[in-house]
Parts: sequence; C-alpha cells; structure tokens
Amino acid sequence: MLNKQVMVEAFQAQVYLSYASWAEVNSFAGIANFLYGHMHEREHMFKILKYINDRGGGKAKIEAIDKAPENPKDIGDCLQKILKHEIDNSKKIDQIVNLAHEEKDWATFSFGQWFVQKQIEEESLVNGIIDKYNLASTEVDGNTSLYEMDRDLTNASQEAETPREEEF
Ligand code: FEO
Repeated sequence: MLNKQVMVEAFQAQVYLSYASWAEVNSFAGIANFLYGHMHEREHMFKILKYINDRGGGKAKIEAIDKAPENPKDIGDCLQKILKHEIDNSKKIDQIVNLAHEEKDWATFSFGQWFVQKQIEEESLVNGIIDKYNLASTEVDGNTSLYEMDRDLTNASQEAETPREEEF
C-alpha cells in the first residue's frame, strides 16, 4: 500500500502541474501560482519512498505515473476537481492508517498521522478557495464586492483603536 501511495502522490503532483499550466495559459497567474505550489506533493512522494527504504527490508518501487486528467472547463471546475483529488487521496491515506492499526504496525501508524494531518489542511485550504471563488462570482443584493470586503476584513487589525490612558 505504501508503494502504491508513492505513485498516488506522484500522480497528485502531475494533476497540480497540468492544471497549473492550464491556468497559466488562460491568464490566471494567481491560480497558476497556487497550483504550481502544490507540486510539493512530490515531497510527500519522497517522504513515503524514504520511509519504505529506511525501514528494514522495504524496497520502494518506482512505476509509471498515470496520465494527467483532461483540462478543466473553467476555474470553478478546476477547484472542484482538485478538491475531489484531495478527498480521494485522504481516503487512501486512511486505508493505510487503518491497515497499520489492524496489523499493530505502530511505526507506520505514527508515520501516517503526518499525512492524515496534511490532508485535513489541504482539503480545508481548497475548500476555502472554493468559498472565495463562490463569493467572487456571486451577486448578493446587487453587491458584487463582497469578495473584496471579505478580503479586507481578513487583513484588518483585531485591535480596536482605543484612547490612550492619559486621555481618560
Ligand atoms: Fe500529498 Fe494532498 O496529498
């Protein structure tokens, strides 16, 4: 299962690479940048490969990477597809952790926790971007600037301006 996951992570990186390139040639430099950044899936691949080789008796197998999928229809479709890839990947990680638990392989169980956590972060990150995309593409009560307003509030100071003590 770990060897399969090496190639799954390599495939994830291919998906991000191909979608990033698609976004770039369609003039979405910011989205392309975000997607190129996710080629860090190759680091996940490498982390598993090293774990297999470093545990006595394990041998990592490098096999063919599946072909990257067709280009998405638009940005909304791209983000939904990315989310689905991440959810599918989370399920595969869960299966590894489940098996490690069943076999009382506590080293792999512990190793897998890092990936469980990563998947929570990555699903949440993509979900957050989908929320922003929806906000940016929606008109509410004739207001089309909610995305900008929300972005401004994200960066707004949490400290209210209060008078200095000596002014009391
Ligand atoms: Fe390494 Fe999002 O998977």
